[in-house]
Amino acid sequence: MDGLDALKQGYLNRIAEAGDEAALEEIRLAALGKKGEISLKMRELGRMSPEERTAAGKVLNALKDEIDAALRAKKSALADAALDARLATEWLDVTLPGRPRRQGTIHPVSQVTEEVTAIFADMGFAVAEGPQIESDWMNFDALNIPPEHPARQEHDTFFMARAEGDNRPPHVLRTHTSPVQIRAMMAAGAPIRVIAPGRVYRMDMDQTHAPMFHQVEGLAIDRDISMAQLKWVLEEFCRAFFEVDEVELRFRASHFPFTDPSAEVALRCSWEGGQLKIGEGNSWMEILGSGMVHPKVLAAGGIDPAEWQGFAFGMGIDRLAMLKYGIPDLRAFFDSDLRWLRHYGFSALDVPSVAGGLSK
Ligand code: PHE
Repeated sequence: MDGLDALKQGYLNRIAEAGDEAALEEIRLAALGKKGEISLKMRELGRMSPEERTAAGKVLNALKDEIDAALRAKKSALADAALDARLATEWLDVTLPGRPRRQGTIHPVSQVTEEVTAIFADMGFAVAEGPQIESDWMNFDALNIPPEHPARQEHDTFFMARAEGDNRPPHVLRTHTSPVQIRAMMAAGAPIRVIAPGRVYRMDMDQTHAPMFHQVEGLAIDRDISMAQLKWVLEEFCRAFFEVDEVELRFRASHFPFTDPSAEVALRCSWEGGQLKIGEGNSWMEILGSGMVHPKVLAAGGIDPAEWQGFAFGMGIDRLAMLKYGIPDLRAFFDSDLRWLRHYGFSALDVPSVAGGLSK
């Protein structure tokens, strides 16, 4: 068994130089594989005398173990190095601030909701809430819209499924924020001043209608409330919201089952040169419905109509956002298109306030 030392050293050198697992495997096969150099030498043991065999067997086994150990050690060293390299390239400092280029923006609907809330908060209105899945009674009956009333058809209602055999009227996706009037009255009684912004649903879809959209409800109840206060509040709101000194509102008789008298309100504006200007020009833009709360609605909310009276209004938040920020298509509001969101979105750091500025 001559030359074993040279053979061993040769393999150990090759192992030390191997750059990856494939190279290591090649070396292992060359040395210890079925037809490997050391395996072949092992086979020669059979032709030796017993004494020779004992001595040579020992040496060969030791050699085999040594090469084997060197292969394993190198293999795990290669794996460690590969992991280190990966960790080095995939390293991430989670304490770094976000990259401005990737910062999210506030959706125009959220922005306008904040603006509207800030303006009415400044006038003493609290925010009330109600569920989007509403009972038939809250959405209709309590608002003086009994089952056979034609207004029910106009609302293009989405109905929730009922369990088989359950004959109660199905719940609905609320078709307006007006049921929050009832909830707020029941919860707080009179006097009360609240607005209720939120999502509403109707089966409708075109450039200016989406099946889900946003309204803000207003409700003020006290002992001596009249249409005059309604008018003042709405004018004050429009001046603040559109950030102009003068606005002109047009009140026209209308009909809602839950208000009497009722008025639809439009805003004087001009579209000259395709540019919308509020407060001047010869066009009128309808922005909301309103009126004096119907006595039956007060009663449904647990408030005595002989003692209290109030006004209510409801306007479309999406519509307000389109007007103020010149957004032509309502459907784009709900597409989640990042380019649109970056273009029309607002900085998360500019919180609207009446004193600090609404949209700056
Ligand atoms: N709920 C009405 C609608 O959705 C708006 C409205 C609210 C009208 C309150 C009058 C008073 O069209």
